[in-house]
Amino acid sequence: MRILLLHGPNLNLLGTREPAVYGRLTLEDINARVIEAGRELDAEVRALQSNHEGALIDAIQDARGWADGVVFNPGAFAHTSYAIRDAFASVTLPAIEVHLSNIHAREKFRHRSVIAPAVTGMVCGLGWRGYIHALQILVELVQEKRAAHP
Ligand code: DQA
Repeated sequence: MRILLLHGPNLNLLGTREPAVYGRLTLEDINARVIEAGRELDAEVRALQSNHEGALIDAIQDARGWADGVVFNPGAFAHTSYAIRDAFASVTLPAIEVHLSNIHAREKFRHRSVIAPAVTGMVCGLGWRGYIHALQILVELVQEKRAAHP
């Protein structure tokens, strides 16, 4: 099983970016933990980060050719990007949206994700552990799908 772990804008700054909100782990730390969790679940996790909307859309479209599912933190694009929402609606890959912070407990503009209706589900407010939970559930969903349509 192969999973795309995709990170959007400003998440390359994790570790130093608003650590009270996003924690002290760097993106490399988080990727290493998710890749290791994937290994334990027999899933290959490939991580990618971009600050550019088009590059994220390209990665989502490209995932159709090789990935079984996507774990994605869209950063602020969650609140603005109909184009990323359309990309998920187009590829029909199982995908879980992750936010480190509890977007519902923050500024009003963060309460809504325009991407959420086009993905399988969302985890928010659980810090880096949210990625691990998202991966575990995604792997189970893919396994269930495979069992149903061998
Ligand atoms: C975030 C929440 C977004 O509102 C914000 O723009 C981010 C990070 C999170 O992980 O909590 O960049 O996606």
